[in-house]
Amino acid sequence: MSHSISSSIPMRTLRAVSQLRDSLQPARQAGLTVGLVPTMGALHEGHLSLIRRARERCDVVVVSLFVNPAQFDERADLDRYPRTEREDARLAERAGADILFAPAAEDVYPAGFASCVEVLGITDRLEGAVRGAAHFRGVTTVVTKLFNMAQPDVAFFGQKDAQQALVIKRLVEDLNMPVAIEVCPTVRERDGLAMSSRNAHLLPGERTRATGLFEALEASKRLSREGERRADTLVAAAREALARADIEPEYVALVDPDTLEPVERLQGPALLAISARVGDTRLIDNAILEPSHQEISISRTGASPAKAPA
Ligand code: PAF
Repeated sequence: MSHSISSSIPMRTLRAVSQLRDSLQPARQAGLTVGLVPTMGALHEGHLSLIRRARERCDVVVVSLFVNPAQFDERADLDRYPRTEREDARLAERAGADILFAPAAEDVYPAGFASCVEVLGITDRLEGAVRGAAHFRGVTTVVTKLFNMAQPDVAFFGQKDAQQALVIKRLVEDLNMPVAIEVCPTVRERDGLAMSSRNAHLLPGERTRATGLFEALEASKRLSREGERRADTLVAAAREALARADIEPEYVALVDPDTLEPVERLQGPALLAISARVGDTRLIDNAILEPSHQEISISRTGASPAKAPA
């Protein structure tokens, strides 16, 4: 339980790292915990759930808002990324933030900036394979900078970006960063679409089709619950659901949740990850599939569940 110091004090928006450090110093000296929710703005319920969780767990809640140019693989994507700082500030404050840290690009990447932080291996796959090595290098570099700037005790990330969360956990562990990473559940619209700042770009017809990603995850989950363990069958079920929504995926992959290596059979929890373009908008989503205790066997009356071999 946190000892919130914020309930009556209005949220402050800070731009300079020195201001952020000065503001956090008294809390740190008093032994209070600092939670950081890194965002690129365009806040939605997914972000707000992270802020609320940070509010529950930490004494001081910092939300960073920085559209990080280094992690965009396409200039057009960066240019059209929604920038809604005033509304973001209102939402962040209502969700319980004490400080909105919104630095300028020139302060994060001043002239002569020449360093980067890179996690190898797990960044080559899935999103890394589609978006190129620069994407995760951009994420890990800016997250390292934000951690150094705010020096949080805990930082909060969403499970929707499962690979990003894994990469950041690896980064923190490999570089002995003194920050705990909490990964919070994906927040969904009523029809299942995962909340994302990019959903705002979907045209009405595309918005309807976009639920195909969730339906694909559900189709595969259903099969796994019925006892199916073959990865290719589980992936095929997801692909069929995407095709029904007229969505051509960039990838549908069933992978080990720690290494992101493809799995052939569902023997423990596995991450089913999907990326697809719906119109001009790239969407990602994922689910953890668990092997059920039953495997499909064919009886005279058709497919029926039977006990899995030990
Ligand atoms: O998930 C995001 O919004 C961004 O990748 C992050 C973690 C804020 C880094 O820019």
